[in-house]
Amino acid sequence: MTHAIRIHAPGGPEGFVWEQVEVPAPGDGQAVIRHTAIGVNYIDVYHRTGLYPLPAMPAIIGMEGAGVVEAVGPGVTDLAPGDRVAYACPPTGAYAERRVVPAAQMVKIPAGISDTTAAAMMLKGMTAQYLLKDTAPVRAGDTVLVHAAAGGVGLLLCQWAKHLGCTVIGTVGSDDKAALARAHGCDHPIVYTRENFAARVKELTGGKGARVIYDGIGRDTFDGSLEALSMCGRLVCYGQASGPIAPINLSILSAKSASISRPVLFHYTAARPDLLRIAGDLIDVVSKGIVKIETPREYALKDAAQAHRDLEGRRTTGSLVLMP
Ligand SMILES: NC(=O)c1ccc[n+]([C@@H]2O[C@H](COP(=O)([O-])OP(=O)(O)OC[C@H]3O[C@@H](n4cnc5c(N)ncnc54)[C@H](OP(=O)(O)O)[C@@H]3O)[C@@H](O)[C@H]2O)c1
Repeated sequence: MTHAIRIHAPGGPEGFVWEQVEVPAPGDGQAVIRHTAIGVNYIDVYHRTGLYPLPAMPAIIGMEGAGVVEAVGPGVTDLAPGDRVAYACPPTGAYAERRVVPAAQMVKIPAGISDTTAAAMMLKGMTAQYLLKDTAPVRAGDTVLVHAAAGGVGLLLCQWAKHLGCTVIGTVGSDDKAALARAHGCDHPIVYTRENFAARVKELTGGKGARVIYDGIGRDTFDGSLEALSMCGRLVCYGQASGPIAPINLSILSAKSASISRPVLFHYTAARPDLLRIAGDLIDVVSKGIVKIETPREYALKDAAQAHRDLEGRRTTGSLVLMP
């Protein structure tokens, strides 16, 4: 048995219950991990609220963790009990002291990266990697717009895009967040509560707009993002912190020959060689100090509800982790 945070129906954070659950023996290709740190991500909110329905109730949410392998199932050859690992993958189940994970989705963590840092960076960092290098590859000299530039994914996108030679514009909700984004490579933070971000992006780019826009906000920013996009630009709608985007008429893209992507990390990392390439690239830039992982805000696993209230309340910057 192990302790976990479970939900019995979709709803608010008050529905989190601290319970004892069985940890099954690892099956073919599976391993049991004892978590030392668990990542909190916006997708956890979508699972909790039912925006992304879960297959059964009660359910344990969470898709990211770091810790120690306790046992491996049949057919697992490249992991052994005692290995330090991290993962970011389906199925949900990370808000627990222990759980079973597909072994092919686990990555060994080098000694220079702590468990807390690993839990803070795997899902958000691999997202930054594939967005910048696979979905909408950027080139030196590009101007990119990063929404929620002081957020978990945002701080990593800003640093990595800057390292790749881009001019980085970001949107943030406060002056404190603007200062943090600036310290992480964002050349031009825009406090969107004061300024119309699309107009400001146009102004900063001499009327051209941004060639690539990484938008994890969704409903509230979609129209402005299209407006802020350059001719032949790419709008990457990779999240919906403000709610789902309304259905669109594709012909609106013809005004700029714009293209839109709606990518999901887990499709890019489903095959182990791709996972190792993407995670390896992330570990490399973090180990070299090119992308810094700020010390994440820590909550006891039991206090996951407070972590969700803070994340949805826009009171956080960088990553959040739950400590079992
Ligand atoms: N598709 C993928 O593969 C993938 C993978 C990872 C994450 N994501 C997406 O990336 C986005 C960021 O995730 P994250 O975990 O790093 O979260 P986060 O950016 O740390 O937190 C969300 C931030 O969004 C901003 N925001 C604007 N409007 C909001 C609203 N109505 N409600 C709440 N927040 C709002 C807030 O920043 P300000 O105060 O600055 O406005 C808030 O701090 C999410 O949409 C998530 O789903 C997608």
